[in-house]
Amino acid sequence: MPRVAWLTDVHLNFVARRAVDELLAIVASHGPDAVVVTGDIAEAQSFRGMLLRMAEAWQRPIYFVLGNHDFYFGTIEGARETARLACRQSPWLHWLPEMDAVELSPRTALVGHDGWGDGRVGDHAHSRVRLNDFELIGELTGLSGARQFRKLNELGDQARAHFERVLPPAVERYQHVVVATHVPPFREATWHQGRISDPDWTPFFTCQASGEAIRAAFEKRPECTGLVLCGHTHGAGEADILDNLHVSTGGAEYYRPALQRIVEVP
Ligand SMILES: [Fe+2]
Ligand SMILES: [Fe+2]
Repeated sequence: MPRVAWLTDVHLNFVARRAVDELLAIVASHGPDAVVVTGDIAEAQSFRGMLLRMAEAWQRPIYFVLGNHDFYFGTIEGARETARLACRQSPWLHWLPEMDAVELSPRTALVGHDGWGDGRVGDHAHSRVRLNDFELIGELTGLSGARQFRKLNELGDQARAHFERVLPPAVERYQHVVVATHVPPFREATWHQGRISDPDWTPFFTCQASGEAIRAAFEKRPECTGLVLCGHTHGAGEADILDNLHVSTGGAEYYRPALQRIVEVP
């Protein structure tokens, strides 16, 4: 049974080189067959270097998506180009938004997209939350109110379009599908400090567009079981969305990058 190491929200730009090396060694010690990283690797100027260090250290396929912090001090378009560059620089690196379903085993496939807190769940219009995203990401700088809402919708819709393209054939062909994404696709998965986030936060903590596409694919194929791996809220928790669809939200602490867990792939 293949074993996949799952990491999320490691924010490696915040820690010393030695702490990065320790994390690399811990993951290597488990001897995973592949690694899945669900975003917030570092920041726009540093995530590529961190991915290349992972590739060098593990010499295993590394499937990743980007999180909002991976765009900080850069632009969305620029960071996406950087992700493509990283994949050209190392044969181990694979950015999931540009891939069809990946076969992890004869019975299990992997798909993924960054996702984005798309503003649709909760009360965006009255939320008092002001994420750094709106100061530190080029395309989002200064956006507020209705313009911000429209932009978040648009980013969420990109994730929806990807899942609508790659998921239906994957659930048709495989018995199990792992979905990797940064932003929880369902409100029920927006764990933070042991509880589901409130309507102030869920606009930024949920990608409803992803959730709609994911739910629809698994509703159509009850024989196929889905496991969503996500992060972003930094609060660990589990949620059952359908009988055949489960979501694990990873816990994370700034300055303490950790292996989330080893996922055994059927
Ligand atoms: Fe994070
Ligand atoms: Fe995040």
